[in-house]
Amino acid sequence: MSFVEYGDVIQEGDTAIVFLGHDSMFPVKVQRGGQTQTRYGALRHSADLIGKHYGSKVTCSKGGWVYVLHPTPELWTLNLPHRTQILYATDIATITMMLELKPGSVVCESGTGSGSLSHAILRTIAPTGHLYTVEFHQQRAEKAMEEFREHKVGHLVTVLNQDVCREGFGVTGVADAVFLDIPSPWEAIGHAKAAIKKQGGRVCSFSPCIEQVQRTCQALAEHGFGEVSTLEVLLRLYDVRSVTLPLPDFGDEAGGPGGGAPSAQNATMTCKTAVAPKEMAGHTGYLTFATKSLV
Ligand SMILES: C[S@@+](CC[C@H](N)C(=O)[O-])C[C@H]1O[C@@H](n2cnc3c(N)ncnc32)[C@H](O)[C@@H]1O
Repeated sequence: MSFVEYGDVIQEGDTAIVFLGHDSMFPVKVQRGGQTQTRYGALRHSADLIGKHYGSKVTCSKGGWVYVLHPTPELWTLNLPHRTQILYATDIATITMMLELKPGSVVCESGTGSGSLSHAILRTIAPTGHLYTVEFHQQRAEKAMEEFREHKVGHLVTVLNQDVCREGFGVTGVADAVFLDIPSPWEAIGHAKAAIKKQGGRVCSFSPCIEQVQRTCQALAEHGFGEVSTLEVLLRLYDVRSVTLPLPDFGDEAGGPGGGAPSAQNATMTCKTAVAPKEMAGHTGYLTFATKSLV
């Protein structure tokens, strides 16, 4: 198993996702002799997991069953241990696309936080790209490196435990893209410019507050970045439901509305339809993108 390559069979040392339902799943480190409790009973790693195919339906000790899934960055974002606020799929998808990330890309990131975005970047830039991720909180930096190794992506990432605003990304003139998720991104724009390749690299900064965006845009302009744009991604998830609707009554040939044949009166039809949400997740943050100018 690796977060960047599919493995068919569950092995000792893997991180697997135990899936009880769409609202109930969790990661498990597979260890010979290990046990994990679920509400359907215990999962014995040696007997129930190791050697089974990913995607298998596995019966727990109380007779209930779970699916054991191969980990992906998408599932990790939903299941990772939160050490900080994290980025979710909606923003991550936009960031990956707008930074034009692809296999082989070199990316700088700060802060690493809980590694939610980092895992998605690593999957995208593998097998030949590299991620330099800077985190000034020592335990978070160490924990992130430990997880990258466990997830078999350690060779694709360098974790630097330093203040990006003071010391930058530890590389110069190599990055295709820089991503910032820190409280004062404007203080790191000069370092972002230094890290990016000579021309054409992209930068993105995520900030919850518009005042942070204003200062970041100002710093981007001062450092000569072009194509500066800010956007907010709002996700509207529709429910697919069966609904029963009255059939329209167009009336009989002689009469007007309401004069339809008796069989048509009070007739209904049931169909599947998508229903707009009454409430939706609101603001997460603003994404500001810019391109390093040609000169
Ligand atoms: C919101 S979290 C990042 C979450 C991350 N994007 C994710 O998806 O998991 C912000 C992180 O930036 C780190 N940080 C804040 N200022 C920093 C700085 N000047 N240099 C390095 N790291 C910094 C914090 O310690 C924190 O872990």
